Amino acid sequence: MSPALKLRFYDMEPETSSLYDDVMNGLSLAQKSIPPKHFYDESGSILFDAICETDEYYPTRTEMSILEQNLKEITTLLQNDCVLIEPGSGSSQKVRVLLDSFEPHTYMPLDISSDYLQNIAYGLAKEYPNLHVTAACVDFTSPLELPYYPENKRRVVFFPGSSIGNFEPKKAINFLVNMASLAQKKGGLLIGVDLKKEQAILNAAYNDSKGVTAAFNLNVLQHINQRLEANFDLNAFKHNAFYNPKLGRVEMHLISKQDQQILISDQHFTLKQGESIHTENSYKYTIDEFQFLAKQAGFTPIKVWTDPQQLFSIHYMTFG
Ligand code: AVJ
Repeated sequence: MSPALKLRFYDMEPETSSLYDDVMNGLSLAQKSIPPKHFYDESGSILFDAICETDEYYPTRTEMSILEQNLKEITTLLQNDCVLIEPGSGSSQKVRVLLDSFEPHTYMPLDISSDYLQNIAYGLAKEYPNLHVTAACVDFTSPLELPYYPENKRRVVFFPGSSIGNFEPKKAINFLVNMASLAQKKGGLLIGVDLKKEQAILNAAYNDSKGVTAAFNLNVLQHINQRLEANFDLNAFKHNAFYNPKLGRVEMHLISKQDQQILISDQHFTLKQGESIHTENSYKYTIDEFQFLAKQAGFTPIKVWTDPQQLFSIHYMTFG
């Protein structure tokens, strides 16, 4: 007989800020925009995984190799018997590398997508029978009250993938403040941050030659068509991504190839030829810049790891 799973699931029923509101508001702005979180419908998630496999998109594989190269040192800092919390855990792939190398008391994956999260949590609890898996369906971008923590355990937040890059720097500080309140005094933060680098490398990473990133970007229009009865013609837009050195970020846009009118639910929007819909920012930081940011949220930098080419960084920090 298999032992009982150490599995808990909490559904905090997050208000999924509606696609409808975001699209209607975003397309009413002078610079039209759609928040990047709406990329991730089912096909968007598949396309994102495909981006990570392209030759040009270095962050995922580079972060993974940094984790693998420094695993002992990293997990020693995290410490056995901690509570490991992962906001936006998705498929929980990267954390497996950590879980194979040390023994946290509890792993808490937090994600907005309830069914997917339940499946992933169940799989992990079966694979790591000694690990408590406590999953919570929450919107991790708003302040978090988690339903349950084992008492008197050190807490560490794991936030890989340079997802922090999607926030404006001021919002990134707010987000880190929220992470600090999850970690609490003496808690830790292990976070992946993409580094500033030669522009050609950044531009290539968001303009892969197979057009996967372009398809990912355009897919948000397909998603809106399906969910909001809109009539975006994907052929009437083109993918545009570039590094903006002044703002230290890669920007993704969808450029209208022609003057056109879009119908969404019962509202019309007009786009001029060449007009853009801004779909994503991906901020890049030097090590010093990121440490400066995190200090403003109350974190103390402890250690940074990078790859030999200095493409990507993983920071370990403690709170307070
Ligand atoms: C998941 C936000 C880290 O900004 O590099 C990849 C998303 N967009 N290619 C990034 C993305 C286009 C990615 N993040």
